[in-house]
Amino acid sequence: MEEISQNHHDELIIFVNGKKVVERYAEPEMTLLTFIRRKLGLTGTKLGCAEGGCGACTVMVSRFNPHHNQIVHHAVNACLAPLCSLHHCAVTTVEGIGSVANKLHPVQERIAKAHGSQCGFCTPGIIMSMYTLLRNSPQPTMQNIEEAFQGNLCRCTGYRPILEGYKTFTKVEGCCQGRGMANGCCMTSEHQVHGPSPVQPLFNPSEFMPLDPTQEIIFPPELMSLGKKTPRSLRFIGERVQWIQPNSLKELLELKAMYPAAKLVVGNTEVGVEMKFKNLLYPVILSPAYIQELSNIQYTENGIEFGTSVTLTVLGKVLRGAIDKLPSYKTELFQAILEQLRWFAGQQIRNVAAIGGNIMTASPISDLNPVFMAAGCKLTLMSKEGKRIIKMDEKFFTGYRKTAVKPDEILLSIEIPYTKKGQYFSAFKQSPRKEDDIATVTCGMNVVFQDSSNVVQDIQLSYGGMAPTTVLTTATCNRLIGRPWGKKLMEDACSFLAEEMMLSPSAPGGMVAYRRTLTISLFFKFYLTVLHKLAQEHLSDEDVRSDYASAIELFHLDSPTSVQIYQAVPPGQCTDDVVGRPMMHLSALKQATGEAVYCDDIPHYENELYLALVTSSKAHAYIKSIETADAMAVPGVVTFVSAKDIPGSNMTGPVVYDETVLADDQVTCVGHIVGAIVADTQVHAQRAAKAIKITYEELQPVIVTIEDAIINQSFYKPVRMIENGNLTEGFQESDNIMEGEIHIGGQEHFYLETNCTLAVPRGEDGEMELFVSTQAASKTQAVVAKALGVPASHVVCRVKRMGGGFGGKESRSTILSTVVAVAAHKVRRPVRCMLDRDEDMLVSGGRHPFFGRYKVGFKKNGKVVALDVTYYSNAGNSMDLSLSILERALFHMDNCYNIPHIRGIGYMCKTNLPSNTAFRGFGGPQGMMVAESWISDVAVCCGLPADQVRKMNLYKQGEITPFNQCLEQFTIERCWEECVNISDFYQRKARVELYNKQHRWTKRGLSIIPTKFGISFTAVFLNQAGALVHIYTDGSVLITHGGTEMGQGLHTKMIQIASRTLEIPISKIHISETSTNTVPNTSPTAASASSDLNGMAVYNACQTLLQRLETYKASNPKGSWEEWVKAAYFDRVNLSANGFYRTPDLGYDFETNSGRPFNYFSYGVAVSEVEIDCLTGSHKNLHTSIVMDVGKSLNPALDIGQVEGAFMQGVGLFTLEELHYSPQGYLYTRGPGMYKIPAFGDIPTELKVSLLRDAPNERAIFSSKAVGEPPLFLAASVFYAIKDAIFAARTESGLTGPFRLDSPATPERIRNACEDRFTKLCPPPEPGTYTPWDVQV
Ligand SMILES: Cc1cc2nc3c(=O)[nH]c(=O)nc-3n(C[C@H](O)[C@H](O)[C@H](O)COP(=O)(O)OP(=O)(O)OC[C@H]3O[C@@H](n4cnc5c(N)ncnc54)[C@H](O)[C@@H]3O)c2cc1C
Ligand code: FES
Ligand code: FES
Repeated sequence: MEEISQNHHDELIIFVNGKKVVERYAEPEMTLLTFIRRKLGLTGTKLGCAEGGCGACTVMVSRFNPHHNQIVHHAVNACLAPLCSLHHCAVTTVEGIGSVANKLHPVQERIAKAHGSQCGFCTPGIIMSMYTLLRNSPQPTMQNIEEAFQGNLCRCTGYRPILEGYKTFTKVEGCCQGRGMANGCCMTSEHQVHGPSPVQPLFNPSEFMPLDPTQEIIFPPELMSLGKKTPRSLRFIGERVQWIQPNSLKELLELKAMYPAAKLVVGNTEVGVEMKFKNLLYPVILSPAYIQELSNIQYTENGIEFGTSVTLTVLGKVLRGAIDKLPSYKTELFQAILEQLRWFAGQQIRNVAAIGGNIMTASPISDLNPVFMAAGCKLTLMSKEGKRIIKMDEKFFTGYRKTAVKPDEILLSIEIPYTKKGQYFSAFKQSPRKEDDIATVTCGMNVVFQDSSNVVQDIQLSYGGMAPTTVLTTATCNRLIGRPWGKKLMEDACSFLAEEMMLSPSAPGGMVAYRRTLTISLFFKFYLTVLHKLAQEHLSDEDVRSDYASAIELFHLDSPTSVQIYQAVPPGQCTDDVVGRPMMHLSALKQATGEAVYCDDIPHYENELYLALVTSSKAHAYIKSIETADAMAVPGVVTFVSAKDIPGSNMTGPVVYDETVLADDQVTCVGHIVGAIVADTQVHAQRAAKAIKITYEELQPVIVTIEDAIINQSFYKPVRMIENGNLTEGFQESDNIMEGEIHIGGQEHFYLETNCTLAVPRGEDGEMELFVSTQAASKTQAVVAKALGVPASHVVCRVKRMGGGFGGKESRSTILSTVVAVAAHKVRRPVRCMLDRDEDMLVSGGRHPFFGRYKVGFKKNGKVVALDVTYYSNAGNSMDLSLSILERALFHMDNCYNIPHIRGIGYMCKTNLPSNTAFRGFGGPQGMMVAESWISDVAVCCGLPADQVRKMNLYKQGEITPFNQCLEQFTIERCWEECVNISDFYQRKARVELYNKQHRWTKRGLSIIPTKFGISFTAVFLNQAGALVHIYTDGSVLITHGGTEMGQGLHTKMIQIASRTLEIPISKIHISETSTNTVPNTSPTAASASSDLNGMAVYNACQTLLQRLETYKASNPKGSWEEWVKAAYFDRVNLSANGFYRTPDLGYDFETNSGRPFNYFSYGVAVSEVEIDCLTGSHKNLHTSIVMDVGKSLNPALDIGQVEGAFMQGVGLFTLEELHYSPQGYLYTRGPGMYKIPAFGDIPTELKVSLLRDAPNERAIFSSKAVGEPPLFLAASVFYAIKDAIFAARTESGLTGPFRLDSPATPERIRNACEDRFTKLCPPPEPGTYTPWDVQV
């Protein structure tokens, strides 16, 4: 062994994009992501979460494996990969594979041209996942692609276009790449898409460059020869941590004896998260990368022995190989492990995470430990003193995250045994989202039968998620031994499990009744699985009933298929006129190469500093003191910024100034910003921010939930009401009256790019320049100026693009910008801050949770006559935009239904939560969701099909809404009919009914839901926009307008409008950014109205310029654009014009219920079919058809992108995304680990989207319509399809009649609603008798 001296510091050698980088002082705490972004300036790779949960940071890591003489390529999360783990590795980032300037890589080109990049922030990560897959498998299957994307999230696109684009690489579904077909490319031919013609593809694959695997960058030969040498031990010494990489097992064991508290880091997927988010410090890290014994894989007599550094990807590969080779009875356990691995994290994590890390973390929700424990795997432990072998049994885990392994020991290997004849093994994992999610309950189940019988010889049931450790249900198992496998055993086992698997009602993680039910339901699945196998072996007289068979099918997803239908441009439209054509997002290619610059990609100023927020840990308290001494002692810290440093006003807010920039004496929510640390680097600033000590005096009451607010009458003023007709009469006319309630949970925006601001003091006259990721440039300018005490004219706010906004950057982003500007003003240096995901989720609020209570009167035939509905929204600790959001909910309380007598009242609850804010739909979805709840209740009460009741109540053209607006150009009926047709609604319904008759434990549901969405800001003054258009003497055109680009393609549409108006090709037109010094007083880019408003302003400016050029065109009709421009210039004509637009005839008065709140309405209808697993609560989205009226589409590709993206965000809202708050207002869900947005696997297996044809809208630019928000609500069709399926399940248990289902319809809610004999064994704890872990806010 070569000893390494304590002070010796090695150089780290790494190749990045083919270039050698030698890092002399590699910092062990630095991640690869920080290194490539900060040190190498390669900003294409993005930071989305820093916890391995979003994939934005994906890069390809290639290593030479000397033992197999092989180069391996892996997709890796750069945010978790320690730089030091990459010695002698080659890293490829998105910049390394292609660029717009040189040559695009096909992976980059195809995602862009297939419209798979909207905001583009996820795009580099998705590209690198795909690129790595192609490096390993140039002709993948669709399944390979879906697996490769398990660790990538996109918040904009709805995933469909990404899959469509990449399908062209596949062997089976793939395209001929323009080479194989007589009549062009296979993908452009009619057979690709079905549905009403004319159907046009959204992109043309024959334009795609073919993939040529021989052109990829090669693995650096230098690394290959370095890899062949015997490695030397390494030591990297950092500021607080040292990284030691010994080169022999002996040395590793000596080091472990010397540093018993040292962590053994392989994948760093646990340790990295602990260091970043739990603020843990491990001064010594031991990397066993060179220790061959830990990577060995050996077939033994009893099974396969794996060294504990073997990664999960390799584990899966080896087990698959064994399953192929061995008789299936021997591999029952291997198959169960593979099933667990299928749903274990994403590919990037599995590529680096090791078996040992999973065992040794001893997490109670580990997916492998229950399997290893139920199998009784043998573990070999080793220390300097020698080896010992122990069994993974109930004694192995000694407490929460503790094991029987001694501090000086390491876990050397695990032997995973073969199963025997007469032994059966299953593993199950239940989680809120199927892909890449941590388990709610996870288990391994193992039964051994006495020779050729169905009598239990031994049984082990091991669960995770039910206690602080993985547990074995020994009491239950002991009582099952010696008994035949049959109904009686099953029933007893369920009762025993209900007794043994108890949970405190306050158990961390909540969902107590559900988790208990799961332990039984999963056992029931195991029981049926084994019963079936025994029957097949003729060892049981009984087999699984045919209607029970689907209960034992493993959850699998079919590859999605899709159809998009839109109206082609009229024949004869000039080819240069791109309006109405599916043009690619103009930044898509740059986004795909990493060249697109987002706020945090702006190069650093030399004297720039970084800011980290200090936030409150109490929901309601006085600040008694703030101690900064420890923080100031952290190296690199420059200052602490508090309310005292604000030169102007500390009061802020988008409408009313009712909140502070920095809390002065009182905090009113957890996450309230109290101050900020400014330091030389992000690491130092964040470390110091954590060292600030605040003492509080807690105040009462702490109001967290809507329920609390109602009890305390804690409401903001005013209370809003819309009333029409006569309620008393309406209820008298009704045959039936029923009451109901629904709670609609909030939603986190989860834009992939978190809030970011760079503030640069200009040094003169208090001028400040801000680079911000915001939807509201002018508002940012105004509130920053107010806080700095300078006129707005001294502050410039610039927005290049955002990595998603969705309303989350409309008003809440201004607070961060103000804090950063105040800090920059204080230190007189540029200051930057990009919030970490957990901070962003904590401080920035989200969609308002709503509670709706209704009383509805209706006729026997389902016609609704009267409705009295009350809405409560959880506004949080300041007003923000809550009033307009509540108003919009009330404006949408009717959805599409004509109710003669109606009253809606709305309250805004003032609570101790971070202020909730705008979110796509802006209260509309919540308003309509309540409507769909009462109408589905009415259908159930009347015993009528819900679609019939909905249709009967629909408005007709020319009818009047409760707010007295006439419905003109009302297209709902057309959308409805087309949607019924394209979804085969009635045939589908018959199939669903038949399915439900034949299946007891899985049920299908179907629903059709309409939507009507009012377009305009309801604050009338915001319905204005400006534009500035310059024509330069070379003929090039620069446009600035009031809107911001957040992925929705606004700039693309503006260029299309300018191109048609000026009659010049788009190549001559450019938009650089949005800035307050070019177009002033802009409205936020929101309310879906930005294309309408800014489009008209751009059109107006272009018209002015055209008029000025008219003479020159007339005098030289054959001349070129450039010639006309030049002539005008020499004639001293002003070639710059501004444009302006205000929407006419708007204004509504709540007092008199008169005036027009909306310019027009957008309409749509969706049909969805789902399948639920009644035993686990999981569901699959089988089919969705959407017909959306977007007027005459400006750009069908962008509009379909908005429809699908909004729909998927709605799927998240209504079925998946759940914020968990403690009763004290502490937000638990602060990252993708706990907060699940839809992933690739959540898109409907079959998706049809049609833009309604021949539906011009005379009230917006070029007859188009707004599209950003309206389609979101159509995802309610999935929710109500789930409710329909639950109804079928409840009917089996004899439960009929309406039932309450709150949103989102999570697995927990679905399972709990499917009441049956198992749920009866696990009744929910009595409310009020305990303090729950979380509360419904
Ligand atoms: C995004 C994400 C998703 C995840 N999803 C899942 C999931 O679905 N299911 C699940 O179960 N887990 C999941 N995890 C947890 C984690 O990935 C696994 O536990 C993983 O197996 C840990 O391996 P590692 O090599 O990265 O561990 P590391 O972080 O490198 O180490 C973890 C711990 O193990 C110790 N250790 C490692 N090897 C040894 C050894 N040989 N001897 C002694 N101690 C050792 C280390 O000292 C450390 O304490 C997820 C994590 C992330 C970040
Ligand atoms: S930033 Fe790395 S996975 Fe999200
Ligand atoms: S395009 Fe995927 S997150 Fe925006």
